[in-house]
Amino acid sequence: MTLNELLTRAAELDAADPLASFASEFVPAPDGLTYLDGNSLGRPLRASREAVLEVLDDQWARGLIGSWDQWIELSRAIGDRLAAACLGASEGTTVISDSTSVNIYKLASAALDARPGRADIVADANEFPTDLYVLDGLARSRGGRLRLVDSDPVRGFDPGDVSSLLDDEVALVSLSHVNYRSGALADMAAVTAAAHEAGALALWDLCHSVGVVPTALEDCGVDLAVGCTYKYLNGGPGSPAFLHVAPRHLGTLLQPIHGWFGQSRQFDMDPTYDPVPTIERFLVGTPPILSITPIGPAVDQVGRAGIEAIGAKSRSLTELLIAAHDLLLAPLGFTLGTPRDPDRRGGHVTVRHPEAQAISAAIRSEVSVVGDFRRPDGIRLSPAPLYVSHVEVVEALSRMAEVVSAGAHARYREQVGRVT
Ligand SMILES: Cc1ncc(COP(=O)(O)O)c(C=O)c1O
Repeated sequence: MTLNELLTRAAELDAADPLASFASEFVPAPDGLTYLDGNSLGRPLRASREAVLEVLDDQWARGLIGSWDQWIELSRAIGDRLAAACLGASEGTTVISDSTSVNIYKLASAALDARPGRADIVADANEFPTDLYVLDGLARSRGGRLRLVDSDPVRGFDPGDVSSLLDDEVALVSLSHVNYRSGALADMAAVTAAAHEAGALALWDLCHSVGVVPTALEDCGVDLAVGCTYKYLNGGPGSPAFLHVAPRHLGTLLQPIHGWFGQSRQFDMDPTYDPVPTIERFLVGTPPILSITPIGPAVDQVGRAGIEAIGAKSRSLTELLIAAHDLLLAPLGFTLGTPRDPDRRGGHVTVRHPEAQAISAAIRSEVSVVGDFRRPDGIRLSPAPLYVSHVEVVEALSRMAEVVSAGAHARYREQVGRVT
C-alpha cells in the first residue's frame, strides 16, 4: 500500500464514521495540532467548561454553603452514570473518589482483610509503577510479598501466566486491563476466574481502558476495580478517580481509611465509626467538587456515543495506525511495541525506536504531533475515538516519518523535560 492509498482509505473510513460529529463538542485544540496523547490527558469538552463555570458563578458564588445539597451526592451520581456508560456495572457499585493510587490502597487493603491467613498479592512485572509501590507496601505490611508475573513487555500476560503463580497464600490478583506502556489488553474474564479458583479476589486497574474499551465487569465476575478519569474520560488534569466494588462485596468489605463520608448518619457527628452498607463506605473525605464536575458531561458523552461504537472506532484507528507504522516508520528503524491482534490491544499503539525520546520531543516541536515517550524506547500514540480522525492519524505518522528521515530529532537529544 502507498501513502496515497492509505490516505484514501482513511478518508473513506472518516466519511462513514458514525462518531465524527462528537469532535465538535470539544474545546478546539490549537490549529494544526494532532493530539495523540488522550491516554495521558484527554481534551476538555465545551460542556465541561460550562459546567465548571456554573459551579463557580452560580452554585458556589451565589448558592454558597446551600449548594452542598446538590454536591453531596455528586460522587455517587457520576459513579452511577460511569458504571452504566463504561463498565457494564449496576447502580450503586461505583463512586468518584481520591486518586487511583489511593483507591488501589483502599480496595487492596479491604481484599487482604477479606482473606485472612493469606497475605501475598499477584501483580504484573510490567505494571504501572504506582500500583506496584502500593501493592508491595501493603503485602509487606501484612507479612506477605508481591509475586510478579513475568509478562512479555509487548504481548502482556496470558491467564496461564497468572494462574501458575496462584496458591492458598495469595489473597489478591491486581492487574491492569490495558498495559500503560504496550497497550496490551488482558483477558479479564479468564484471569478473574483463575483468581477465584485459587480463592483470591481480583482487582483491575482500568486507567487505560475506561472510556475506550468496552468492559463488562459484572459479566466477568470482577470483584474490585479502579481507574483514572483524566484520560479517555476527559475529566481534566488531576480529576479524581473512580472505584468499583461488586454488589456481592458491598456490605462486607471494609476499607482502611475510616472517613466521615463513609459514616452512617454523617451529620450526627457520632465519634464512633459505623460505615454505611452501600458503596459510599469507600468514600473518605469532602469531595473536590470543582474537579469532579467536568467528569459528568464527559461520561454522558460516552453514554451518548455508546461504548461499543467507541471501541469499534478505536480498533479501526489503531489498525490504520499500525498500517501507517508498517509503511512509513518501519523502514526508518521503528518496531511495533503493541500486539497486532485487535483482540489483544487497547486504545493506544506504541512504536519503538532507539531514539524514541528525542523523536517524541522533535515531533511535538517540529510538526505539532503530540504523543508521549515511555522508557526505554517507546512513543505512545493514542487516537482517542471521540476527537481523532483516521486522516489525522495517517497524516501525523507521515509528518513523523519526515522528521526522522530528515534527522531533525538529532537536535532534541539533550532536551529532556521532567514530564515526557
Ligand atoms: C495504569 C495506571 N495506574 C495508575 C495510575 C496513577 O493514577 P493516579 O495518579 O491518579 O494515582 C496511572 C496514571 O497514569 C496509570 O496509568
